[in-house]
Amino acid sequence: MPTPTRILLLLAAAAATLFFLFWRPSPPPPSDTAPSPGGEAFRQRLVAIGDLHGDINNAKRVLRMAGLTDKTDHWAGGNDIFIYELWYRLRGEASAVGGRVINLLGNHEVMNAIGDWRYVTQADIKHWGGVENRQHELSKEGWLGKDWLANYSISALVPLSPFPSAPTLSFQHGSLRPSFPNLTPYPDAINRLGHSLLTRALTPPLAKPYPPNPYSGLPAGTTREEAELYDGGGPLWWRGLADVEDDRIVCGWAKELQEKIGVRRVIGGHTPDFDKIVHRCNASVIIIDTGISYAYGGVLSALEIIYTLTPVPKDDAHRQDPFVAPGNGTDAPHVLRAGEKYIEREEVNAIYQTGKKRIALEVRQIVL
Ligand SMILES: *[C@@H]1O[C@H](CO)[C@@H](O)[C@H](O)[C@H]1NC(C)=O
Ligand SMILES: *[C@@H]1O[C@H](CO)[C@@H](O)[C@H](O)[C@H]1NC(C)=O
Ligand SMILES: *[C@@H]1O[C@H](CO)[C@@H](O)[C@H](O)[C@H]1NC(C)=O
Repeated sequence: MPTPTRILLLLAAAAATLFFLFWRPSPPPPSDTAPSPGGEAFRQRLVAIGDLHGDINNAKRVLRMAGLTDKTDHWAGGNDIFIYELWYRLRGEASAVGGRVINLLGNHEVMNAIGDWRYVTQADIKHWGGVENRQHELSKEGWLGKDWLANYSISALVPLSPFPSAPTLSFQHGSLRPSFPNLTPYPDAINRLGHSLLTRALTPPLAKPYPPNPYSGLPAGTTREEAELYDGGGPLWWRGLADVEDDRIVCGWAKELQEKIGVRRVIGGHTPDFDKIVHRCNASVIIIDTGISYAYGGVLSALEIIYTLTPVPKDDAHRQDPFVAPGNGTDAPHVLRAGEKYIEREEVNAIYQTGKKRIALEVRQIVL
């Protein structure tokens, strides 16, 4: 078994969770589709999971389906608290093996934070030990409020390798709007606003939950920019990349985003397609909400990205160095060297219970 190095990135809304894992096995396994004459020198796997809507059982099934967890889970219940505890634990476990879990906030986290509890069930409130306990745990003095402030952001820019040549991917819960006023510097501007709004919302006294109390809106002192972050055109709620039907418009936006923030793909959830992961504009836009929870009854799915760098074989036909035997393709994996040529391969797949489906394949030669 390869030793996995894991980075797990998770974009959550009490209702929605996207979640990624990078994994670099050592030694690299042979690639079934690409010849790797000198062996892959670098390999990472990333998995993203869309909106889970508090469904702990399906969350665990998807994690297992994507090979992210083993069968030793013994979870009870089906409420949000368990999902957050699961992510908390997996984050620790991933970092213990050199990996990483990155969590992102969704609209439902921020709704909970500002006291908009319209989607919170009585059972959930009971699991937390009542309204006051739930509010306390969500506040910046409670474990979950602290966890959100420390470990969750609105947006993530994910490089596919640690090298400067790496293509990058952008993740957020909703759609990223190219005309969003605080798009750049990406993702810092968005994440700063998210953190300041969340801090405001989680600083006691917390808003009285609506219902039964009237909706109190964003916290006192919220700035215009923070309000824009949370409104319908912001990255938590906007659906444009998913629900505007005209491809010319969406691909225009995708191109604009690529130019403004330099990413290869923009990936989000929030707008479900109950049958499949949706990709548009040559997979420069990917929407991974498949309505995974039992409440929605969509398909279980995960997005997988496998990124490899394989040294370009040197032209050794006339080599006559008595001290260096010519390579025969079974040598140890290459060590990465700056200035050398590599074949970069990015494979994007949708994982379903019925198997994998290729979404995109990008292969190019790069100089590291
Ligand atoms: C952030 O996540 C790590 C790993 O789960 C955890 O150890 C740490 O306590 C979290 N921070 C807060 C403030 O909860
Ligand atoms: C889609 O991506 C492939 C692979 O990079 C590229 O060859 C092709 O030109 C792209 N098509 C469009 C319409 O951008
Ligand atoms: C060639 O293959 C053999 C095993 O098949 C291996 O022991 C050897 O190190 C390889 N490399 C070279 C340069 O001979």
